[in-house]
Amino acid sequence: MKSIVKSFTYNEFDDFTELPENEQKLVGLSREMTKSAYSPYSGFRVGAVVLLEDGTTIKGNNQENVAYPSGLCAERVAVFSASALHPGKKIKKIAISAYSNTKSIEKPVSPCGSCRQVLIEYEKKQKTPVKIILAGEKGKVLVIDSVADLLPLHFTNIDL
Ligand code: THU
Repeated sequence: MKSIVKSFTYNEFDDFTELPENEQKLVGLSREMTKSAYSPYSGFRVGAVVLLEDGTTIKGNNQENVAYPSGLCAERVAVFSASALHPGKKIKKIAISAYSNTKSIEKPVSPCGSCRQVLIEYEKKQKTPVKIILAGEKGKVLVIDSVADLLPLHFTNIDL
C-alpha cells in the first residue's frame, strides 16, 4: 500500500479588479447574467460566461423547473450552448458568479459535481485546460487553471 497525495495550486484575488482586464470583463458579464437567471424556486441566481479561443463569449444562467431535477445549472447552460453553437472551437475560460435574493454572496461559488464532470468532458476533448474563474456578488475571486484540478481521479473515456 502507498499513500498518494494530490494537491493543486490556485490563485486568490481580493477583488475582481485585480484580475487582468479580459478576465474582469468575463466576471462582469457573469455577474450581469445572474440578473436574468430563472430561479423562482431557490432564489439563487448563477451566471456563467464561456470564453472561446477566438474571443467569442457565450453566456448562460441557471434555469429551474417546477420538476426540480429538470432544471439546469448556469455552467452547463453556457458550456452546452458553446459546444452546440461553436463545436470546433476550444473553450479557454469560464467565469461563474452568483447572487442570492435573500443574502449577499461575498465569496466565490464553486461548480457542483455534475458541472465539473460536464466541464472536464470538453477539457479532455480539446486537450487543453479550461481556466475557471469563481466569483460571488462581490469580494474575493478564485482562479483555477484546469477543471482537472477540481475533479481528481475523474472518469474519462479511456475508462469505457
Ligand atoms: N446552481 C448553478 O447554477 N450552478 C452550480 O454550480 C450550483 C448550483 C444553481 C442550481 C439551482 O438553480 C440553484 O443554483 C440552487 O442550487
